[in-house]
Amino acid sequence: MRMVDLIEKKRDGQELSTDEIKFIISGYTDGTIPDYQVSALTMAIYFRGMTEKERADLTMAMVESGDQIDLSQIEGIKVDKHSTGGVGDTTTLVLGPLVAAVGVPIAKMSGRGLGHTGGTIDKLEAVKGFHVEIENEEFINLVNKNKIAVIGQSGNLTPADKKLYALRDVTATVDSIPLIASSIMSKKIAAGADAIVLDVKTGAGAFMKTLDDSKELAKAMVRIGNNVGRRTMAVISDMSQPLGYAIGNALEVKEAIDTLKGEGPRDLTELCLTLGSHMVYLAEKANSLEEARQKLENAILDGSALEKLKVFLSSQGGDASIVDNPSNMPQANYSFELEAKEDGYVAEIIADEVGTAAMLLGAGRATKESTIDLAVGLILKKKIGDQVQKGESLVTIYSNFENIDEVREKLYENIKVSSTKVEAPILIYGEITE
Ligand code: URA
Ligand code: CA
Repeated sequence: MRMVDLIEKKRDGQELSTDEIKFIISGYTDGTIPDYQVSALTMAIYFRGMTEKERADLTMAMVESGDQIDLSQIEGIKVDKHSTGGVGDTTTLVLGPLVAAVGVPIAKMSGRGLGHTGGTIDKLEAVKGFHVEIENEEFINLVNKNKIAVIGQSGNLTPADKKLYALRDVTATVDSIPLIASSIMSKKIAAGADAIVLDVKTGAGAFMKTLDDSKELAKAMVRIGNNVGRRTMAVISDMSQPLGYAIGNALEVKEAIDTLKGEGPRDLTELCLTLGSHMVYLAEKANSLEEARQKLENAILDGSALEKLKVFLSSQGGDASIVDNPSNMPQANYSFELEAKEDGYVAEIIADEVGTAAMLLGAGRATKESTIDLAVGLILKKKIGDQVQKGESLVTIYSNFENIDEVREKLYENIKVSSTKVEAPILIYGEITE
């Protein structure tokens, strides 16, 4: 087989076979096929697309390029959730304990944040002592015992995807739905879950800015999952504004605790109940989505979800006293209010830019090497559609330095107040199942 012939085949719009895709991915991973040939191929894919079969083959070839996590020693149907990136997206912190409380095994592999998006591990590290560097065996034991554990990303998960993603980044081929869908799905499948619930974000803060693109990406991922034997469904949710009120690590842990107590923001609570119902249903812990939702609502009301959070934190070395006393987490030295400059209605809270403002405070990483400040971040006081009066606070800014002019300016630029009434955005745009 020669790579040049395969590039030509895709350039001319023909379908690559399973063996041809395996040849390309294994050759690229081991270095026998050079970057320049793979970049020509990805550009051909960008223009020609991929068939459903090619997408599934590409996904599995990338899964097989590295380690695959074996969760077979965990009892029950393992369901994973994946968000396609967001700002202030506290759902994983809520969903883990919530669905574990109704008996769904959660064996979660999580990552760190970069740029305007946060990472679950960073957030959890706001809890003193909590660590994710655990052996596979302990990880499995914890899930069997408590129904929930989180482990850091294995270094050798889908190396083909790592290499391909870096190449796409510098060859203008990131924005290809078949390539994005197989990239995301390869990581989820290698992480070992039996079933996958996807939260595909749409809007300014999301990877996919339009609803049509988000739907197309969701469908592509759902098809790949089901074609390779993992029950997969997707919810399409709004990321035109940040989710909930809190953006920042300790602040989001506090928000998750509030939500598990039934006192959280409405949007975050609703999205968690929706995603959670699908997880419980796919795990066969309920016979219908309605029954699943009822079980989750009960777990909030009777305190078992909050109790599960305590068990989860302490079993991985964390100080569970923060659940009753969130002020035991790192606290910022200063807080400032961002006051509205005029009367009106909040019309826009551009999520990615607001995420960048939180990053400038130190809540996120500008580069992979940056260190983060777990205490700092933003609490939105208003969301889109809310009425606001001049002088009222739009955002509380928690900082460890006094000069926050740059952050203030960025927030004013990206939180727009209109003199005419504005409707709150739709939270959930649809669900894609097969
Ligand atoms: N996120 C991924 O993991 N892969 C892509 O290709 C795009 C976004
Ligand atoms: Ca939030």
